[in-house]
Amino acid sequence: MINYQEHLEEILISEEQLKHRVRELGQEISSDYEGQDLLLICILRGGVLFLSDLMRELTVPHNIDFMAVSSYGAGARQSTGQVRITLDLTMSISGRNVLLVEDIVDSGNTIASVLELLSLRRPKSLKVCALLEKAERRESEVPIHYRGFEIPNKYVFGYGLDLDEYHRNLPFIGVLRQDEASEFADAS
Ligand code: IMP
Ligand code: MG
Repeated sequence: MINYQEHLEEILISEEQLKHRVRELGQEISSDYEGQDLLLICILRGGVLFLSDLMRELTVPHNIDFMAVSSYGAGARQSTGQVRITLDLTMSISGRNVLLVEDIVDSGNTIASVLELLSLRRPKSLKVCALLEKAERRESEVPIHYRGFEIPNKYVFGYGLDLDEYHRNLPFIGVLRQDEASEFADAS
């Protein structure tokens, strides 16, 4: 697991493309929230690189907070549909404009559960910004208000997304080699 090269089928989204799209999203969000209060909530851990780059593209003042949920069993590469909160927010979201910042919406189960939970805390508004979407795999209906890229149904890693908890630091989004991906098909 030290070298990522042997697991990489291809680079799907380059560093340049990520930079460009994150800038566009930042501009869109800044214009939508102009003059309003904004709280970004990052879902750990996959969303951290996206959050930190997105924040730097925002021209509106905002707070950040973090939460963690677990949607994966060890070694499995597909969401189980069961989500457990492992770290809760430190801030109250009541009456606030909340924007959830996620790395990827795959089945949609994770974000659907998080939205359900957060809406009980009565935010003024609750929207979703996801860098990646695997539309083909959708099981739960979730609104994605800001979306970076729609991607095919392949396991991807890099730019916050992990391959068995490694390689989140890569500056691009890479696709896992197909022969490895099939080893894990229906693992959960
Ligand atoms: P969902 O509940 O199926 O939408 O899964 C969402 C979570 O699964 C994401 O926040 C990621 O942490 C993880 N995930 C889904 N697909 C991938 C992938 O291709 N690479 C890395 N993580 C993934
Ligand atoms: Mg995630």
